[in-house]
Amino acid sequence: MKMGIPLRAAPIISALITIVRATSFDGQYIQPNLTNNAVEWWWGSAVGTPAPANVGTPGPVLQFLFYQGTEIFQAVSQFKSYLPKPTGYPILADLNHTSLPEYYIDINGFFGGKDSDFTLTVPASSGEITEGDGKAITGTWGTVGTFQTSSDLKTMRVTFNASDITGSINFISNRGSHFGCNVTDGPFFNAFAPKNRTLNEAEQVFFDELGWPVSIPGGIADVDVTINGTRLAFSGNGYHDQNFMSLALNEFISSWYFGFAEVGPYTFSYVSATPVNSSIVFNTGYLATDQAVLQNQCSINGTKTTDISLIQPKGEMEGPEGTITPSSWILSYVLDDGSEFEFELKPTGANPNLAIYQRWTGSISGGKKGEEIYEGVATFEWLNPGLNPYSPA
Ligand SMILES: *[C@@H]1O[C@H](CO)[C@@H](O)[C@H](O)[C@H]1NC(C)=O
Ligand SMILES: *[C@@H]1O[C@H](CO)[C@@H](O)[C@H](O)[C@H]1NC(C)=O
Ligand SMILES: *[C@@H]1O[C@H](CO)[C@@H](O)[C@H](O)[C@H]1NC(C)=O
Ligand SMILES: *[C@@H]1O[C@H](CO)[C@@H](O)[C@H](O)[C@H]1NC(C)=O
Ligand SMILES: *[C@@H]1O[C@H](CO)[C@@H](O)[C@H](O)[C@H]1NC(C)=O
Ligand SMILES: *[C@@H]1O[C@H](CO)[C@@H](O)[C@H](O)[C@H]1NC(C)=O
Ligand SMILES: *[C@@H]1O[C@H](CO)[C@@H](O)[C@H](O)[C@H]1NC(C)=O
Ligand SMILES: *[C@@H]1O[C@H](CO)[C@@H](O)[C@H](O)[C@H]1NC(C)=O
Repeated sequence: MKMGIPLRAAPIISALITIVRATSFDGQYIQPNLTNNAVEWWWGSAVGTPAPANVGTPGPVLQFLFYQGTEIFQAVSQFKSYLPKPTGYPILADLNHTSLPEYYIDINGFFGGKDSDFTLTVPASSGEITEGDGKAITGTWGTVGTFQTSSDLKTMRVTFNASDITGSINFISNRGSHFGCNVTDGPFFNAFAPKNRTLNEAEQVFFDELGWPVSIPGGIADVDVTINGTRLAFSGNGYHDQNFMSLALNEFISSWYFGFAEVGPYTFSYVSATPVNSSIVFNTGYLATDQAVLQNQCSINGTKTTDISLIQPKGEMEGPEGTITPSSWILSYVLDDGSEFEFELKPTGANPNLAIYQRWTGSISGGKKGEEIYEGVATFEWLNPGLNPYSPA
C-alpha cells in the first residue's frame, strides 16, 4: 500500500531540496535521483474546439508530460491495488524505490467526440535538459521524444518518435512567461505561507519546495501526430508549464484544482490547493489580455476580498469509481480595483478519469461581469490524493 508510506522527517526533506537552478526560466530546477524523492515534469496541452456535429463532447485534445522522478504507481479501484505502471500523472509515486529516476512521456487526450479518449505511456531510457541561448532549453527523452523552446519562450516544438506515437506539436505563445504570485525572482509560493503559526510538514513542502514556472500561458498549438496508426491533426489553444517538487504530489497534497483556458480576449490559469492535514485553501490566479496582466496573485482563501481568485464546484453528476463529482465549476477573479470576472466551466469528457484524478475537457463561458460573454474550450482538473468526498452545497 504505497499511500501508507509516511512523509519523512522534516529536516531530511529540507536537506533534499537542492535547487540546481538553471539560468533558464524553464530549465532543470531539482535533480531527481536515487538519494531523494524529487519529481520534475514539463507539461503541455493543446485543446481544440469540437466539430459542429460533436458539440457537447470533447474536441480534439493532446496533453503530454515529460517526467523525471520516482516510479509512478497506477491506482486501480479506489487504491485497493496498484500496478507498477504510470497512470498519466506523477502522483502515487513509490517512495521505496531501488532505481531512480524513471523517465516517461505520458500522453492523454481525445481524438474528438464521445468516447474518443486515448492514454499512453512511453518509457524513455533517459531524460535530459540542456540550456541554449537566452531562455532556450532542449529536453531529450531517450530516442522517443524531445521538446525545445526558443530563447524568448515564444515558441516551443515537441516531437514524438515512438512505436505508439509519432509527430509533432508547435506552440506559439501569446503571453509572457510568469511565476505565480506576481514575482520574478522564484517559482515558489513561500511568501504567502501563514506567518502567525508553524507550518506542518506537508504545508512546508507545499510552500517551500513546490515550484511552478509557466513558460507559455496561452497561444496556439498546431498538432500533427499519429497515435497507434490514427492521425490527430488540429490547431488548438496551447499552454505549457513545468512543476518540480521534493516529494511526489500525493505525499503532501490532499486536494488540488487546476485549470486554464483562453476565451475571447482572456487567458487564464488557476490553482487552488490544500496540503495534507491542513485547512488552508491556497489560491493562485492569473488573468491576462494581450494588453495587460490583469491579475497574477497568490493568497490564502478568505484572507482578503480583492486581488483574489476562486474556483467553486457546483451541481453533481456520477463520477469515476462510484464517486459523485461536480457537474460544473464557477471560476471568479476579483481584481485589485474590485472589478469582477466570472466564468462557468462545464465538462464534456474526462481523461484521466479516476477518483484520485479527473482531468476534464469542456466548455467555458464568461468574461467581465456586466460585459460581453465569450465562449470557448477549457481544461480543468481535480487531483484528489486525499480522496476528499464531494458534497454539493
Ligand atoms: C542527487 O541530487 C541531490 C540534490 O537533490 C544532489 O545533491 C546529489 O549530488 C545528487 N546525487 C547524484 C548521485 O547525482
Ligand atoms: C521496501 O522494499 C523492500 C524490498 O523490496 C521491502 O522489504 C520493504 O518492506 C519495503 N518497505 C516498504 C515501506 O514498503
Ligand atoms: C494500440 O492498438 C493496439 C492494437 O489495436 C491496442 O492493443 C492498444 O491498446 C492500442 N494502444 C493505444 C494507446 O490506444
Ligand atoms: C526514432 O526511433 C527510432 C526507432 O527506435 C530510432 O532508430 C531513431 O534513432 C529515433 N530517432 C531519433 C531522432 O531519436
Ligand atoms: C503583477 O501584476 C500586475 C497587475 O496587477 C501586472 O501589471 C504585472 O505585470 C504583474 N507582474 C508580474 C511579475 O507578474
Ligand atoms: C492566523 O491568521 C489567520 C488569517 O488572518 C487567522 O485565520 C488564524 O486564526 C490565525 N491563526 C492563529 C494561530 O493566530
Ligand atoms: C497527518 O496526520 C495524521 C494523523 O495525525 C498523521 O498520521 C500523518 O502522518 C500526517 N501526515 C502528514 C503528511 O503530515
Ligand atoms: C473561500 O472563501 C470564500 C469567501 O471569500 C468562501 O465563500 C468560500 O467558501 C471559500 N472556499 C473554500 C473552499 O474554503
